[in-house]
Amino acid sequence: MNHLVGVWDALHSPKLDKSRSDRWYRYYAGFAPEFVRDVIDEIKPDLDDGVLDPWVGSGTTLSVAASLGYRASGLDLNPAMVVVAKGRLIADDTRSSVQTLRDEILRQWRPVTGSAVSDDPLSHWFDFGGCGLIRGLAQRIDEVLVLDHLTPDGRVQSMSSLAAFFYVALFDSVTSLLKDYRSSNPTWVKGQKIGSGDVVIERPTLESNFKAAVDRLAMYVKKAGALSASTRDLIDIRAGNSRRLPFEASSFGTLISSPPYLTRLDYVVGHRVELAVLGFGDSDIRSLRQQMIGTPTIGGVISKQPLGNAANEFLAAVSSHDSYAAAEYYAPNFRQYFEGMADSLAEANRVTRPGGNIVLVVQDSRFKGIHADLAQCIADMSTQFGWVLTNRSDFTSIRSMAQVNSRAHKDARTLRPIESVLHFVSAAPSNIPATE
Ligand SMILES: C[S@@+](CC[C@H](N)C(=O)[O-])C[C@H]1O[C@@H](n2cnc3c(N)ncnc32)[C@H](O)[C@@H]1O
Repeated sequence: MNHLVGVWDALHSPKLDKSRSDRWYRYYAGFAPEFVRDVIDEIKPDLDDGVLDPWVGSGTTLSVAASLGYRASGLDLNPAMVVVAKGRLIADDTRSSVQTLRDEILRQWRPVTGSAVSDDPLSHWFDFGGCGLIRGLAQRIDEVLVLDHLTPDGRVQSMSSLAAFFYVALFDSVTSLLKDYRSSNPTWVKGQKIGSGDVVIERPTLESNFKAAVDRLAMYVKKAGALSASTRDLIDIRAGNSRRLPFEASSFGTLISSPPYLTRLDYVVGHRVELAVLGFGDSDIRSLRQQMIGTPTIGGVISKQPLGNAANEFLAAVSSHDSYAAAEYYAPNFRQYFEGMADSLAEANRVTRPGGNIVLVVQDSRFKGIHADLAQCIADMSTQFGWVLTNRSDFTSIRSMAQVNSRAHKDARTLRPIESVLHFVSAAPSNIPATE
């Protein structure tokens, strides 16, 4: 498993926006396809064993597993990431029609006007004319790619990989118009009050951005190698919450994933613009942030799962730290993270068959010098399910979010984070601990 470290794409930071043509979509915290290949090579799951990723991100696990012939399922809470992951999966049979469809989309499209755009979430950034243009182009994608769901949720769930491909091109076209709204923290996108956006765009600019984005993404797919149609059909990606997996017990033999880290990255706010393009408004964003594991907000769902020794010790150390807000905000916020992880691991345990393999990649972090050994926290948490940790490999990561965020604590900026690969084998039926 030597291919893990070093895959950390800039999300919104122009400074890091170098190898654009080699990336599917700007995204951070992803692992390399070679890493997933190495893991599968090592584990050698049976071909009828499904592979699960409950935190899909940009979809690396699923595309690699399916290309090796495995049924691959996964979910992500962030609908923008579901579209990003789906769009990467266009197959050979559809790739050849991309240019024709692009021209068909651009041949006849009309801006949306009037009251339909007055409370459009895009008006956090764009004036009403700009909102109408972007909304009109999105509606045209729906029309050409036959997406007739009226709700943003329905549209994301039913979106084909081809439609998602064009939505990713639209994300790219729109976000590139908002460079001034990016901050030094790549997961934070500023915006005005709804209805007060003042970015003006011209139709030809949006059209040429869209054309260029479609061509660049098509080039990426060509270089990466489009999937065969039969491979694509092995993949099932849905929007959903890892705390309630929509799968039957023992549905998968292998789980390969990278859960959210304890770094209070706001994956939802980082994709506010993409979510607005999909039609998600402020109340949807609030609700997604509440459900997101690792969110900086407080007040999410409480869990009754035990958190394990390492997490409890870390929480006790944070609570008793004398810095401002340590006990009032940081300790409850970190507790919420561990509760989300504990519920998700319980679900992972339920849907993984006894004796199955679970491979998780996590990164450590620090709070004011207190070390959070997340790998140990997860290992302790998993003992209640009878999982056996067969291997832990630690690597020094080349970059962390904290190093980009100038407001992060100096320790977090100077110490290189450790990335750990944990390999567990879930309990064989005879070893499953009795529950009360
Ligand atoms: C570290 S990233 C996964 C990266 C992925 N392995 C890749 O290669 O791109 C973690 C993902 O978990 C998602 N997430 C956070 N909370 C979630 C939840 N409750 N349910 C499902 N996904 C969640 C985030 O949206 C984010 O995409």
